[in-house]
Amino acid sequence: MRMRNKYRKPTTFRCNAGSRCSLSAVVWGLVGCVLMLHLYYLIHHHDGVGGEIQMRLNHPLLTRDLQEVEEEGFQIPPPKGKRSPRAAKRRPKRPTTLIEEFLDESSPLRYLFFPDQRTAINPLKEAENDSLCFYPGRMWLDTNGKPIQAHGGGILYVKRPGMYYWYGENKDGPTYHAHKKGAARVDIIGVSCYSSKDLWTWKNEGVVLMGEETNETHDLYKLNVLERPKVIYNDKTGKYVMWMHIDDANYTKASVGIAISGSPTGPFEYLYSKRPHGFDSRDMTIFKDDDGVAYLIYSSEDNSELHIGPLTEDYLDVTPVMRRILIGRHREAPAIFKHQGTYYMITSGCTGWAPNEALTHAADYIMGPWETLGNPCIGGNKIVRHTTFFAQSTFVVPLPGLPGSFIFMADRWNPAELGDSRYVWLPLTVGGAADQPLEYNFGFPLWSRVSIYWHQRWKLPDGWSRK
Ligand code: DGJ
Repeated sequence: MRMRNKYRKPTTFRCNAGSRCSLSAVVWGLVGCVLMLHLYYLIHHHDGVGGEIQMRLNHPLLTRDLQEVEEEGFQIPPPKGKRSPRAAKRRPKRPTTLIEEFLDESSPLRYLFFPDQRTAINPLKEAENDSLCFYPGRMWLDTNGKPIQAHGGGILYVKRPGMYYWYGENKDGPTYHAHKKGAARVDIIGVSCYSSKDLWTWKNEGVVLMGEETNETHDLYKLNVLERPKVIYNDKTGKYVMWMHIDDANYTKASVGIAISGSPTGPFEYLYSKRPHGFDSRDMTIFKDDDGVAYLIYSSEDNSELHIGPLTEDYLDVTPVMRRILIGRHREAPAIFKHQGTYYMITSGCTGWAPNEALTHAADYIMGPWETLGNPCIGGNKIVRHTTFFAQSTFVVPLPGLPGSFIFMADRWNPAELGDSRYVWLPLTVGGAADQPLEYNFGFPLWSRVSIYWHQRWKLPDGWSRK
């Protein structure tokens, strides 16, 4: 029998001519109304999740398999548990933003951004239903069971033997600050290379360009900076050419470095560094066009604009030709790709290791003019779309067997432990009309929309490769 506590405050009140309603029934009623209103908003508001789901389902280029992967919201629960006394002291009066939570190494939400080893993707041990599944943000192990170390990376496809090579920064060392106000850093270890036939199972091919331990005058001396290595193949010289961002610990050298090898798995011989076209160069990438001409794209003029220019025929230098693009836009982390004759580029804002909003840019001619189409990120919720899924662009991998479909590669930087930064790989498609007004909209050309879909778990559709 339920005992009534006569001292308890009454939680019921009278309504409807004397019928008694419990307070909880009223609260639940209100919750129901709010949910109904929310549902109505989702269905009718085009910028909301409902609108996006509609767009996804209508998207002609989406493959059946991609549609089958349910979109999961990136639900952020309120902080729970106690923080460390150190972090509590630091806690500002105003509520912290999610980006601050992301950057706070003692945040109780940390497991959401950097899930622990127990959830690691292990291609050799994964259960059958998880085979070939990408889990953006989880640890990703190579075929030796070690976390993949290929940050700020890019991928090269070599037709014979039908192999993908993933090059990136090996950051498997302690993170520290060279100066009180300096950015978090890891000493240069070198550029790692991994090989794969399925883009999911990666074999470590080792450090193909080694950092320099002792020679302090060498560009690759461990106390300097080596970032964003990218490799392309030169059909004329038969050489694999690597371009990378070379800097000192204070990011004042602002140069590009070039290395060369006869084999995709190295070793690469480091040649030299320079300031391309005489300008400072920080985040950069290279792009090889269908006609074999390759281009360097780099953030310059203190990251306020990008520069683009063709490489020499041997890909070992830039030519004197250069165009300034996205002037005054302050963009970095460029990742270029091409679809049906149009060039697309994803960039990030400039906020150090902190995530920010991605933008898509498009051009009919690679040397410009480039126009900005807007944020390509779809799904999840507003905060994940505005932080590029808490990651930063690094490369876009074409999937020749699926025209219009690509893999967007991004880094979820972990500034507290850079070596534990994660990879966010997501499907990117080109198709449908761009959904943001253009800067110079004379009616033509009508750019296609670039869409990067958030998935907690996804896999490439069968038959994605060109075989
Ligand atoms: C953002 C760049 O994109 C990264 O490659 C790295 O240089 C960090 N800044 C350093 O803060």
